[in-house]
Amino acid sequence: MAYEIKVNKIPQSRIAQLDQKNIQFGRLYADHMLVAHYEDGVWGSPEIVPFENISLSPATTFMHYGQAIFEGVKAYRNAEGGVQIFRPESNWKRMNKSAERMGMPDLPEELFVEGMRKLIEVDAAWVPTEPGCSLYIRPFMIATDEFVGVRPATKFTFMIITSPAAAYYSKPVSIYVQDEFVRAFPGGIGMTKAAGNYGACMYPAQQIQKMGYDQILWTDGFEHKYVQEIGTMNVFFVIGDKVITPDLNAGTILAGVTRDSVITLLKEKGVTVEERPISIDEIEAAYKNGSLKEAFGTGTAASVAPIGKLTFHTDVMQLRPVEEWETMNWIKTTLDDIRYGRKADNHNWVLKVC
Ligand code: COI
Repeated sequence: MAYEIKVNKIPQSRIAQLDQKNIQFGRLYADHMLVAHYEDGVWGSPEIVPFENISLSPATTFMHYGQAIFEGVKAYRNAEGGVQIFRPESNWKRMNKSAERMGMPDLPEELFVEGMRKLIEVDAAWVPTEPGCSLYIRPFMIATDEFVGVRPATKFTFMIITSPAAAYYSKPVSIYVQDEFVRAFPGGIGMTKAAGNYGACMYPAQQIQKMGYDQILWTDGFEHKYVQEIGTMNVFFVIGDKVITPDLNAGTILAGVTRDSVITLLKEKGVTVEERPISIDEIEAAYKNGSLKEAFGTGTAASVAPIGKLTFHTDVMQLRPVEEWETMNWIKTTLDDIRYGRKADNHNWVLKVC
């Protein structure tokens, strides 16, 4: 089905509010947003309208039962001054996996990818020109039945909003290995970008932030032995000359688009990448014998973020200076070169907008 995307432009752009030297993640939103509604088994045509508050009944389903999913994508200013989006089809596929698990409707590719392309074209001026910056794109879907009875909803709204972004973490992150609370079990929703996955992590996050840590590294729910993901990022360890990252087989870890890009590029370079269960004991042993060279997180918002310190119980693993990290620095530069159009896009990852 071909959608006609109506565009209703804001009378006066708010772009003057954008201070490119002082961008804070998720604080300022671009002029427009995309909205589409699902009812009676079909998606209506999307509309691009001025970014504004929306009005919803207090009985709206997602507010009560959490049928809500989202994605994170980024648009970059390329070397010619144009704008390009990184791997939107991969996010579209993942959104539909989340939708299926959450009893929500499939989104047609055209609605997601072409809708996003058109929105970014309309708000291209909001894609920062400052080095290392981008426009963060947040597609999301919510269940909008006005009904507090518990049943899968029948009405849904899909929206895309965007926000200028700089580096998510300004310094190496300090991570606390969690072995009390659990993020996900096999058969649950750990592999989805369901809003509730993030909500359930807030209390444990508050606890470790009070202790001075940035984020949690989750362990598996059965033994609290195998590391999983960080919640905002997938995790990689460089041990000896191998790169190791937890595999996705149990369905408890998000299949990160950045994770996949990192694995693909490292393998092409000839680096051995192992996707397999990795225990905290193995990481500690590698730290103690000096073979734990690097540890980093990957995600759309965070990009590639070095882990400066990793704490398990009272054991503090302090990693060597990031400047010496060959693998992470190579992958970060290589990925950025592709995202910002400084290097050939041999994988067809980039969607040119304008
Ligand atoms: C992303 O990297 O896009 C995320 O979803 C992480 C976080 C901002 C929720």
